[in-house]
Amino acid sequence: MSITILGIESSCDDTAAAVIRDGKLLSSVIANQDVHIQYGGVVPELASRAHQQNIVPVVDAALKKASVRAEDISAVAFTRGPGLLGSLLVGTSFAKGFALVRNIPLVEVHHLQAHIHVHFIEEEGKVHEKPEFPFLCLLVSGGHTQIVLIRDYLDMEIIGKTIDDAAGEAFDKSAKLMGLPYPGGPYIDKFAKLGDPDKFSFSKPRIDGLDYSFSGLKTSILYFLRDQQKINPEFIEENKNDLCAGIQKTIVDILLLKLLKASEETGIKNIALAGGVSANSGLRDRIILEGTNRNWKVYIPEFRFTTDNAAMIAITGYHKFGKGIFAPSDVSPLARMDF
Ligand code: KG4
Ligand code: ZN
Repeated sequence: MSITILGIESSCDDTAAAVIRDGKLLSSVIANQDVHIQYGGVVPELASRAHQQNIVPVVDAALKKASVRAEDISAVAFTRGPGLLGSLLVGTSFAKGFALVRNIPLVEVHHLQAHIHVHFIEEEGKVHEKPEFPFLCLLVSGGHTQIVLIRDYLDMEIIGKTIDDAAGEAFDKSAKLMGLPYPGGPYIDKFAKLGDPDKFSFSKPRIDGLDYSFSGLKTSILYFLRDQQKINPEFIEENKNDLCAGIQKTIVDILLLKLLKASEETGIKNIALAGGVSANSGLRDRIILEGTNRNWKVYIPEFRFTTDNAAMIAITGYHKFGKGIFAPSDVSPLARMDF
Protein backbone atom coordinates (compact mmCIF):
# COMPACT_ATOMS: atom_id res chain seq x y z
CA MET A 1 0.00 0.00 0.00
CA SER A 2 1.25 3.50 -0.85
CA ILE A 3 2.14 5.94 1.92
CA THR A 4 1.18 9.53 1.10
CA ILE A 5 2.40 12.27 3.44
CA LEU A 6 1.21 15.87 3.50
CA GLY A 7 3.97 18.13 4.87
CA ILE A 8 3.34 21.56 6.39
CA GLU A 9 6.03 24.16 7.14
CA SER A 10 5.39 27.49 8.89
CA SER A 11 8.35 28.05 11.23
CA CYS A 12 9.40 31.49 9.99
CA ASP A 13 8.18 33.57 7.05
CA ASP A 14 7.40 30.94 4.40
CA THR A 15 4.08 29.11 4.34
CA ALA A 16 4.66 25.80 2.58
CA ALA A 17 2.91 22.52 1.84
CA ALA A 18 4.12 19.44 -0.04
CA VAL A 19 2.99 15.93 -0.87
CA ILE A 20 5.34 12.95 -0.88
CA ARG A 21 4.28 9.44 -1.90
CA ASP A 22 6.54 6.53 -0.99
CA GLY A 23 9.51 8.90 -0.70
CA LYS A 24 8.84 10.56 -4.09
CA LEU A 25 7.94 14.24 -4.29
CA LEU A 26 4.58 14.89 -5.97
CA SER A 27 4.25 18.61 -5.21
CA SER A 28 5.87 21.43 -3.25
CA VAL A 29 4.22 24.84 -2.89
CA ILE A 30 5.66 27.86 -1.06
CA ALA A 31 4.11 31.27 -0.36
CA ASN A 32 6.78 33.82 0.55
CA GLN A 33 5.94 36.83 2.68
CA ASP A 34 7.13 40.06 1.07
CA VAL A 35 5.59 42.09 3.90
CA HIS A 36 8.85 41.87 5.93
CA ILE A 37 11.16 43.48 3.34
CA GLN A 38 10.21 47.02 4.35
CA TYR A 39 11.12 46.28 8.00
CA GLY A 40 14.57 44.79 7.24
CA GLY A 41 13.73 41.54 9.04
CA VAL A 42 10.91 39.17 9.91
CA VAL A 43 8.18 40.75 12.08
CA PRO A 44 6.72 37.80 14.07
CA GLU A 45 3.17 39.17 14.38
CA LEU A 46 2.95 39.92 10.65
CA ALA A 47 4.41 36.50 9.85
CA SER A 48 1.75 34.61 11.79
CA ARG A 49 -1.03 36.71 10.23
CA ALA A 50 0.30 35.99 6.74
CA HIS A 51 0.52 32.26 7.58
CA GLN A 52 -3.15 32.34 8.52
CA GLN A 53 -4.03 33.85 5.16
CA ASN A 54 -1.79 31.51 3.18
CA ILE A 55 -2.15 28.11 4.79
CA VAL A 56 -5.45 26.96 3.25
CA PRO A 57 -4.68 28.04 -0.34
CA VAL A 58 -1.14 26.65 -0.12
CA VAL A 59 -2.30 23.21 1.09
CA ASP A 60 -5.05 23.26 -1.53
CA ALA A 61 -2.54 24.02 -4.27
CA ALA A 62 -0.16 21.28 -3.07
CA LEU A 63 -2.94 18.66 -3.14
CA LYS A 64 -4.14 19.77 -6.57
CA LYS A 65 -0.64 19.84 -8.04
CA ALA A 66 -0.04 16.32 -6.71
CA SER A 67 -3.45 15.16 -8.03
CA VAL A 68 -4.15 13.84 -4.57
CA ARG A 69 -7.42 14.09 -2.60
CA ALA A 70 -7.53 14.82 1.12
CA GLU A 71 -8.80 11.28 1.70
CA ASP A 72 -5.66 9.84 0.02
CA ILE A 73 -3.35 11.30 2.69
CA SER A 74 -1.91 8.70 5.09
CA ALA A 75 -0.49 11.16 7.66
CA VAL A 76 0.20 14.86 8.19
CA ALA A 77 3.75 15.93 9.04
CA PHE A 78 4.27 19.42 10.42
CA THR A 79 7.12 21.53 11.78
CA ARG A 80 6.88 21.51 15.57
CA GLY A 81 9.97 23.71 16.05
CA PRO A 82 12.30 25.44 16.40
CA GLY A 83 10.95 28.72 15.03
CA LEU A 84 8.65 31.65 15.78
CA LEU A 85 5.93 30.47 18.12
CA GLY A 86 3.11 32.43 16.47
CA SER A 87 4.12 31.10 13.06
CA LEU A 88 4.53 27.50 14.25
CA LEU A 89 1.08 27.66 15.88
CA VAL A 90 -0.61 28.23 12.52
CA GLY A 91 0.95 25.17 10.85
CA THR A 92 0.54 23.01 13.96
CA SER A 93 -3.14 23.92 14.40
CA PHE A 94 -3.84 23.29 10.72
CA ALA A 95 -2.08 19.91 10.80
CA LYS A 96 -3.92 18.88 13.97
CA GLY A 97 -7.29 19.87 12.48
CA PHE A 98 -6.58 18.04 9.21
CA ALA A 99 -5.45 14.86 11.02
CA LEU A 100 -8.42 14.95 13.39
CA VAL A 101 -11.01 15.36 10.65
CA ARG A 102 -9.48 12.61 8.49
CA ASN A 103 -8.63 10.43 11.50
CA ILE A 104 -5.04 9.93 10.36
CA PRO A 105 -1.74 10.09 12.30
CA LEU A 106 0.07 13.31 13.05
CA VAL A 107 3.87 13.39 12.75
CA GLU A 108 5.93 16.16 14.36
CA VAL A 109 9.11 17.21 12.58
CA HIS A 110 12.19 19.05 13.80
CA HIS A 111 12.85 21.85 11.29
CA LEU A 112 16.63 21.39 11.28
CA GLN A 113 16.52 17.62 10.91
CA ALA A 114 14.21 18.29 7.98
CA HIS A 115 16.77 20.57 6.27
CA ILE A 116 19.14 17.58 6.29
CA HIS A 117 16.44 15.24 4.96
CA VAL A 118 16.29 17.16 1.64
CA HIS A 119 19.09 14.83 0.60
CA PHE A 120 16.68 11.89 0.71
CA ILE A 121 13.93 13.37 -1.49
CA GLU A 122 13.34 11.37 -4.68
CA GLU A 123 11.71 12.79 -7.80
CA GLU A 124 10.20 11.00 -10.78
CA GLY A 125 12.60 10.93 -13.72
CA LYS A 126 15.54 12.35 -11.74
CA VAL A 127 18.64 10.42 -10.76
CA HIS A 128 19.74 11.57 -7.36
CA GLU A 129 22.50 10.16 -5.20
CA LYS A 130 21.60 9.95 -1.52
CA PRO A 131 24.36 10.38 1.07
CA GLU A 132 25.77 7.18 2.53
CA PHE A 133 25.68 6.84 6.33
CA PRO A 134 27.47 8.02 8.30
CA PHE A 135 27.87 11.51 6.89
CA LEU A 136 28.52 15.00 8.18
CA CYS A 137 26.19 17.85 7.30
CA LEU A 138 27.09 21.52 7.50
CA LEU A 139 23.69 22.97 8.30
CA VAL A 140 23.71 26.70 7.69
CA SER A 141 20.51 28.71 7.88
CA GLY A 142 19.24 32.10 8.98
CA GLY A 143 18.79 30.92 12.56
CA HIS A 144 21.25 28.05 12.96
CA THR A 145 24.77 26.95 12.12
CA GLN A 146 25.71 23.41 13.04
CA ILE A 147 27.88 20.49 12.06
CA VAL A 148 25.70 17.40 12.38
CA LEU A 149 26.83 13.78 12.41
CA ILE A 150 24.13 11.63 10.77
CA ARG A 151 24.28 7.91 11.53
CA ASP A 152 20.83 7.06 10.19
CA TYR A 153 17.64 8.85 9.03
CA LEU A 154 16.59 9.67 12.57
CA ASP A 155 19.89 9.25 14.41
CA MET A 156 21.64 12.62 14.32
CA GLU A 157 24.07 14.34 16.69
CA ILE A 158 25.15 17.97 16.69
CA ILE A 159 28.95 17.95 17.08
CA GLY A 160 29.54 21.69 16.54
CA LYS A 161 27.38 24.81 16.63
CA THR A 162 27.47 28.57 16.76
CA ILE A 163 27.74 30.16 20.17
CA ASP A 164 26.14 33.42 18.95
CA ASP A 165 24.98 34.46 15.44
CA ALA A 166 24.17 31.98 12.67
CA ALA A 167 25.99 32.14 9.30
CA GLY A 168 22.80 33.44 7.65
CA GLU A 169 22.60 36.21 10.26
CA ALA A 170 26.24 37.06 9.54
CA PHE A 171 25.33 37.48 5.86
CA ASP A 172 22.11 39.38 6.59
CA LYS A 173 23.60 41.70 9.24
CA SER A 174 26.64 42.49 7.08
CA ALA A 175 24.31 43.25 4.17
CA LYS A 176 22.25 45.53 6.40
CA LEU A 177 25.39 47.46 7.40
CA MET A 178 25.98 48.02 3.69
CA GLY A 179 22.42 49.23 3.14
CA LEU A 180 21.35 46.15 1.16
CA PRO A 181 17.76 44.83 1.39
CA TYR A 182 16.65 41.95 3.63
CA PRO A 183 17.46 39.10 3.46
CA GLY A 184 20.90 40.20 2.37
CA GLY A 185 22.59 36.82 1.85
CA PRO A 186 21.58 36.48 -1.82
CA TYR A 187 22.67 40.12 -2.52
CA ILE A 188 26.11 39.54 -1.01
CA ASP A 189 26.39 36.39 -3.14
CA LYS A 190 25.41 38.31 -6.29
CA PHE A 191 27.81 41.25 -5.79
CA ALA A 192 30.63 39.01 -4.53
CA LYS A 193 30.78 37.37 -7.94
CA LEU A 194 31.98 40.71 -9.37
CA GLY A 195 34.47 41.56 -6.63
CA ASP A 196 37.99 40.81 -5.42
CA PRO A 197 37.76 38.58 -2.31
CA ASP A 198 41.26 39.55 -1.15
CA LYS A 199 40.96 43.36 -1.22
CA PHE A 200 39.37 43.59 2.24
CA SER A 201 39.81 41.03 5.00
CA PHE A 202 37.96 40.77 8.27
CA SER A 203 38.82 39.16 11.58
CA LYS A 204 38.11 35.50 12.18
CA PRO A 205 37.15 34.09 15.58
CA ARG A 206 39.36 31.85 17.68
CA ILE A 207 36.95 29.36 19.21
CA ASP A 208 37.90 25.94 20.57
CA GLY A 209 36.58 22.65 19.25
CA LEU A 210 34.02 22.49 16.47
CA ASP A 211 31.95 25.51 17.55
CA TYR A 212 31.45 28.71 15.58
CA SER A 213 31.14 32.40 16.39
CA PHE A 214 30.03 35.13 13.99
CA SER A 215 29.23 38.09 16.21
CA GLY A 216 32.82 39.45 16.09
CA LEU A 217 32.70 39.59 12.30
CA LYS A 218 29.69 41.88 12.36
CA THR A 219 31.44 44.22 14.82
CA SER A 220 34.64 44.30 12.77
CA ILE A 221 32.68 45.14 9.60
CA LEU A 222 30.73 47.84 11.46
CA TYR A 223 33.89 49.61 12.70
CA PHE A 224 35.71 49.19 9.39
CA LEU A 225 32.83 50.72 7.39
CA ARG A 226 32.36 53.52 9.92
CA ASP A 227 36.07 54.47 9.76
CA GLN A 228 36.20 54.32 5.96
CA GLN A 229 33.01 56.37 5.56
CA LYS A 230 34.55 59.14 7.69
CA ILE A 231 37.26 59.46 5.03
CA ASN A 232 35.01 58.81 2.02
CA PRO A 233 31.19 58.94 2.43
CA GLU A 234 30.83 57.02 -0.86
CA PHE A 235 33.10 54.19 0.34
CA ILE A 236 30.44 51.47 0.45
CA GLU A 237 28.93 52.30 -2.93
CA GLU A 238 32.35 52.56 -4.61
CA ASN A 239 33.59 49.26 -3.11
CA LYS A 240 30.36 47.26 -2.94
CA ASN A 241 31.52 44.26 -4.97
CA ASP A 242 34.91 43.93 -3.24
CA LEU A 243 33.33 44.35 0.20
CA CYS A 244 30.76 41.63 -0.55
CA ALA A 245 33.47 39.32 -1.90
CA GLY A 246 35.61 39.87 1.21
CA ILE A 247 32.71 39.32 3.61
CA GLN A 248 31.60 36.17 1.79
CA LYS A 249 35.14 34.76 1.72
CA THR A 250 35.54 35.39 5.46
CA ILE A 251 32.25 33.64 6.31
CA VAL A 252 33.09 30.69 4.02
CA ASP A 253 36.61 30.43 5.52
CA ILE A 254 35.16 30.33 9.03
CA LEU A 255 32.62 27.66 8.03
CA LEU A 256 35.17 25.46 6.26
CA LEU A 257 37.80 25.59 9.01
CA LYS A 258 35.60 23.68 11.47
CA LEU A 259 34.11 21.41 8.84
CA LEU A 260 37.62 20.28 7.84
CA LYS A 261 38.40 19.70 11.51
CA ALA A 262 35.20 17.69 11.98
CA SER A 263 36.02 15.50 8.99
CA GLU A 264 39.56 14.89 10.27
CA GLU A 265 38.42 14.12 13.82
CA THR A 266 35.63 11.73 12.82
CA GLY A 267 37.34 10.27 9.75
CA ILE A 268 34.09 10.85 7.82
CA LYS A 269 34.48 11.89 4.18
CA ASN A 270 30.81 11.93 3.16
CA ILE A 271 30.01 15.62 3.47
CA ALA A 272 26.63 17.29 2.86
CA LEU A 273 25.44 20.89 2.87
CA ALA A 274 21.96 22.04 3.90
CA GLY A 275 19.96 25.13 4.92
CA GLY A 276 19.35 28.51 3.33
CA VAL A 277 23.02 29.56 3.22
CA SER A 278 23.87 26.42 1.23
CA ALA A 279 22.49 28.36 -1.75
CA ASN A 280 25.63 30.51 -1.53
CA SER A 281 27.79 30.05 -4.62
CA GLY A 282 31.06 30.79 -2.79
CA LEU A 283 30.32 28.12 -0.19
CA ARG A 284 29.27 25.58 -2.83
CA ASP A 285 32.39 26.17 -4.95
CA ARG A 286 34.68 25.98 -1.93
CA ILE A 287 33.20 22.77 -0.56
CA ILE A 288 33.49 21.13 -3.97
CA LEU A 289 37.13 22.26 -4.20
CA GLU A 290 38.00 20.99 -0.71
CA GLY A 291 36.14 17.78 -1.53
CA THR A 292 38.28 17.20 -4.61
CA ASN A 293 41.48 17.87 -2.66
CA ARG A 294 40.51 15.59 0.22
CA ASN A 295 38.67 12.77 -1.51
CA TRP A 296 35.34 13.74 0.02
CA LYS A 297 32.05 12.65 -1.43
CA VAL A 298 30.14 15.95 -1.47
CA TYR A 299 26.34 16.27 -1.50
CA ILE A 300 24.89 19.67 -2.37
CA PRO A 301 21.12 20.22 -2.38
CA GLU A 302 19.20 21.60 -5.34
CA PHE A 303 18.66 25.36 -5.00
CA ARG A 304 14.91 25.03 -4.45
CA PHE A 305 15.52 22.76 -1.44
CA THR A 306 18.05 25.00 0.29
CA THR A 307 15.62 27.51 1.80
CA ASP A 308 12.53 26.63 3.84
CA ASN A 309 10.08 24.30 2.10
CA ALA A 310 7.60 21.59 3.05
CA ALA A 311 9.09 18.82 0.90
CA MET A 312 11.74 18.45 3.61
CA ILE A 313 9.03 18.19 6.27
CA ALA A 314 7.09 15.58 4.28
CA ILE A 315 10.17 13.39 3.65
CA THR A 316 11.15 13.48 7.34
CA GLY A 317 7.54 12.66 8.20
CA TYR A 318 7.71 9.74 5.77
CA HIS A 319 10.71 8.26 7.59
CA LYS A 320 9.09 8.76 11.00
CA PHE A 321 5.84 7.26 9.73
CA GLY A 322 7.79 4.19 8.61
CA LYS A 323 9.03 3.76 12.16
CA GLY A 324 5.59 4.37 13.67
CA ILE A 325 6.69 7.57 15.44
CA PHE A 326 3.54 9.68 15.82
CA ALA A 327 2.66 12.81 17.79
CA PRO A 328 -0.19 12.95 20.31
CA SER A 329 -3.24 15.01 19.31
CA ASP A 330 -2.49 17.58 22.05
CA VAL A 331 1.04 18.28 20.74
CA SER A 332 2.06 21.94 20.92
CA PRO A 333 4.78 23.82 18.99
CA LEU A 334 8.15 24.65 20.52
CA ALA A 335 10.11 27.83 19.76
CA ARG A 336 13.26 26.05 20.94
CA MET A 337 13.65 22.35 20.38
CA ASP A 338 16.49 19.83 20.78
CA PHE A 339 17.24 17.09 18.27
O1 KG4 B 1 17.03 27.97 5.93
P1 KG4 B 1 16.46 29.32 5.68
O2 KG4 B 1 15.57 29.49 4.48
O3 KG4 B 1 15.63 29.83 6.89
C1 KG4 B 1 15.94 29.52 8.20
O4 KG4 B 1 15.51 28.42 8.65
O5 KG4 B 1 16.66 30.33 8.81
O6 KG4 B 1 17.71 30.32 5.59
C2 KG4 B 1 17.56 31.69 5.32
C3 KG4 B 1 18.96 32.32 5.29
C4 KG4 B 1 18.94 33.84 5.26
O7 KG4 B 1 19.84 34.31 6.25
C5 KG4 B 1 19.45 34.18 3.85
O8 KG4 B 1 20.15 35.40 3.76
C6 KG4 B 1 20.37 33.02 3.60
O9 KG4 B 1 19.67 31.90 4.12
N1 KG4 B 1 20.64 32.84 2.16
C7 KG4 B 1 21.87 33.07 1.61
C8 KG4 B 1 21.73 32.84 0.22
N2 KG4 B 1 20.43 32.48 -0.02
C9 KG4 B 1 19.78 32.49 1.18
N3 KG4 B 1 23.03 33.44 2.18
C10 KG4 B 1 24.09 33.58 1.37
N4 KG4 B 1 24.04 33.39 0.02
C11 KG4 B 1 22.89 33.01 -0.59
N5 KG4 B 1 22.86 32.82 -1.91
ZN1 ZN C 1 15.12 26.69 7.72
